[in-house]
Amino acid sequence: MYLPTCHSTNDIATELVRNGKLADGAVIITDEQTGGRGQHGTSWLTSRGQNFTLSVVLMPTFLSLSEHFLLSQSIALGIRNYLADFVSNIWIKWPNDLYINDLKVGGVLIENALQGTRIAHSVVGIGLNINQADFSSVPSGRVTSLRLETGMTFHLAEQLPRLLLELEKVYLRLRAGRSESVRIEYRQHLLGLGQKRVYSIGGQLVEGTIMGVSLTGKLRLELANGEICEFDIKEIKWQWA
Ligand code: BTN
Repeated sequence: MYLPTCHSTNDIATELVRNGKLADGAVIITDEQTGGRGQHGTSWLTSRGQNFTLSVVLMPTFLSLSEHFLLSQSIALGIRNYLADFVSNIWIKWPNDLYINDLKVGGVLIENALQGTRIAHSVVGIGLNINQADFSSVPSGRVTSLRLETGMTFHLAEQLPRLLLELEKVYLRLRAGRSESVRIEYRQHLLGLGQKRVYSIGGQLVEGTIMGVSLTGKLRLELANGEICEFDIKEIKWQWA
C-alpha cells in the first residue's frame, strides 16, 4: 500500500492489521511521515521521498515469545544483505541499527502484538537512508545514506522489490527452522564484536568487549574484570570516541 504522506506507517499498519485489514506480508510505504517514530520514544525524521520509509506486517506465529529476537535479527540481516550489493563495511549495531562504517544508515522499529505466549503479528518499521544528502538537521552528524556512500542516486520504486526480496529470503529461512544460521550470520556482522570499547552503563563509563548476543537478545559484554554480563537495551548506551 503506497501512501504519499502519512503520520507513521507503523501506526497505520498496526491499526489496519488489528482490524483484520492487512494480511501476513503486507507492506505500507510512504514518501513522508509527519509523526515518524524511532526506538526509545524518539522521532524519526526523513526527507520527503528520498529514503525508504515503510512497515511490513508479519505473522511469525512459529516463534515463541522467548525467540522473538530472531525476528529482529532476520530483519537487520535482510537489510544488510540488500545494502551489501552496493557498499562494503556494513555493520549491524545491536540490536538492529544498520551502519556503514560508524555512521547510521537505517533503523528498525518492531512492534509486536501478543496472543498468549506467541506473537500474533509484528509491525516491522524500516527507515533506510537512500538518497538523502543533507543531514544538517541531525545534531550528532553520525548518519549517512546509500547515496553519500556510493555517489549514486537510486530509484526507490525500482529498489523496493530488491529490498523486500532480501527481507523475505532471511524470513523464509527463519520460518523453515534455520534460526541457527540467522544467529551465526547476525553475529558475523555485529558492530564492535570482540573490540574493547567504552559503554555507558547506569550512567557510568565502563570498558567492555562485546562477546555476542544472548538467545533472548541481550548484549553480552566482557567487563575489565573478566566477568561476562548481559544487558538489555535500556541498561547500556554506546559511547562514541
Ligand atoms: C530507529 O530509531 O532507529 C528506528 C527507526 C524506524 C523508523 C521507521 S520509518 C517507517 C516506520 N514508521 C515509523 O513511524 N517508524 C518506522
